[in-house]
Amino acid sequence: MKKIFSGIQPTGDIHLGNYVGAIREWVHLTEEYDCIYCVVDYHAITVEYNIEELARRTIETAFVLIACGLSPEKCKIFVQSHVPEHTELTWIFNCITPIGELERMTQFKDKSRQHRANINMGLMGYPVLQAADILIYKADFVPVGEDQVQHVELSREVARKFNSRYGTIFPEPQVILSMAPRILGVDGQSKMSKTLNNYIGVLEDEKDVWEKLRTAVTDVNRVRRTDKGNPEVCNIYTIHRAFSENKMLLEIDRECRSAGIGCIDCKKMLFENVKKELTPIRERALALQKDTGYVIDVLKKGAQECGAIARKTMDEVRKATGIYIP
Ligand code: TYM
Repeated sequence: MKKIFSGIQPTGDIHLGNYVGAIREWVHLTEEYDCIYCVVDYHAITVEYNIEELARRTIETAFVLIACGLSPEKCKIFVQSHVPEHTELTWIFNCITPIGELERMTQFKDKSRQHRANINMGLMGYPVLQAADILIYKADFVPVGEDQVQHVELSREVARKFNSRYGTIFPEPQVILSMAPRILGVDGQSKMSKTLNNYIGVLEDEKDVWEKLRTAVTDVNRVRRTDKGNPEVCNIYTIHRAFSENKMLLEIDRECRSAGIGCIDCKKMLFENVKKELTPIRERALALQKDTGYVIDVLKKGAQECGAIARKTMDEVRKATGIYIP
């Protein structure tokens, strides 16, 4: 069975971007692949974060993953820091990764701009840790949203560099790009993200979801109800593509272009579809919240199983790199 690895940061509420860009796909992949999914807490501390909240958010992220449909029976779920070999392999990879490659990463450039007062080594080395996450399990495929493709490509380069210098240990992992489009935030401008606070949370209650959708930016050139719209540049239509069936998409496309439907009605249709998908997730999450013990056990078991694989890879790596083994 081919291996899948992917991760998500515990930096706050899981939003529609994460859900359609990654998690929904992760669930399907468990049917055909040997899947490992990780809550990447060490990645989350590369920027300013709330010390008191990190542990709670880590657990919360895990239970949202389960609520979204990831079954611990069908995949491994664990917390990155519980398998310390990830950071150990990162060090080895640090020593073969050119700084120039890291400086040109889009996310590094964006985050350096956002966090001018704290451009630290971890922020620059972030994709190296991501490469270690993936390669320590010798994953074949990495399902991610569009924003993470560049990082997975870097993992391929790291694997290639390591293999050519020390002998082949790692496969070059391939991206599985989510079928869903890149979701912008409710501002209609930047990628939906936790840090930009322009998101709709998977667990948000219906009233708040509607309020955010109702006020979300659409095609900015469509000022009046009677103006014709362009679905191609409308983020609400993009989200529709992730939640609505083809028949409805065709109808909206046609009606929007001819000003036959207004933005509010289009948003109401979207809201109904989003609600249909998110309500059962919210209900499962509420039930899991009352059973934290179950989630903690899942993470413990995940870390044990993943730790065993990671230790084996590290043994190979130590041997290949000439590290003294007593
Ligand atoms: P993170 O936590 O930012 O996001 C988790 C997943 O959600 C996708 N995503 C989106 N997709 C579509 N539209 C959006 N607006 C949107 N926002 C987020 C991301 O592409 C991602 O797939 N560096 C990673 C975590 C990571 C990882 C890994 C991933 C660490 N190690 C190893 C894969 C393999 C990150 O910050 O994801």
